[in-house]
Amino acid sequence: MSTHIGAKPGEIADTVLMPGDPLRAKFIAETYLDNPVRYSEVRNMFGYTGTYKGHRISVQGSGMGIPSLAIYTTELIKEYGVKTIYRVGSCGGMSPDVKIRDVILGQSGTTDSSIIQNTFGPGMYYSPIADFGLLDSAYHTAQEMGINTKVGNIFAADRFYNDELDIHKLIDYGVLATEMETSGLYLLAAKHHIRALTILTVSDHLLTGEALSAKERETSFDEMARLSLETAIK
Ligand code: HPA
Repeated sequence: MSTHIGAKPGEIADTVLMPGDPLRAKFIAETYLDNPVRYSEVRNMFGYTGTYKGHRISVQGSGMGIPSLAIYTTELIKEYGVKTIYRVGSCGGMSPDVKIRDVILGQSGTTDSSIIQNTFGPGMYYSPIADFGLLDSAYHTAQEMGINTKVGNIFAADRFYNDELDIHKLIDYGVLATEMETSGLYLLAAKHHIRALTILTVSDHLLTGEALSAKERETSFDEMARLSLETAIK
């Protein structure tokens, strides 16, 4: 096992779906995968491997925020040889062009996290981006499935609660939505030469204050999970 993942070598598939919430990992594995086997319960950050339409897929919780996601992402890549990661999660809508329930494909990641400066040093503003092949495939798979998607820039916030942030400026510069992980995932994917894509559903909206009910969250989560799985087996 690695430091934070209790799997033996070979127990994790090359392709991993990564929700923030470990109970979502359990739900995805038990709802969509055939023969899911739990390979890790370290810190209750569950991970499962099973098959989807005959293809081996794993689902691993990442926790919230770049520091937590970076632990699981790095170990998946370096200790278990993972080649493709789909982050599946919820986000807060920012742009007026984005409505709650929308599915968003993260084209790039803007962030106020220190991870970019930690990596490149002061004065260098690296732009973490999605793998274009995955983005293109997810976009067209969504069209085939009748799922409407928006594609664009995602803001990975370093703090969930931050009343000092100028969200209007970010919106003005085209940022669609906020969560807390995508820039870190894309940066690590670039560092380790693997492929990554973030697929999100808008669970609440920062401008309107609207939020999905628990039932609506389930339905929109279903679209996102099915889209990521169908893209993963293409
Ligand atoms: N901020 C950060 N992450 C989120 C949000 C938010 O408003 N909504 C869902 N995930």
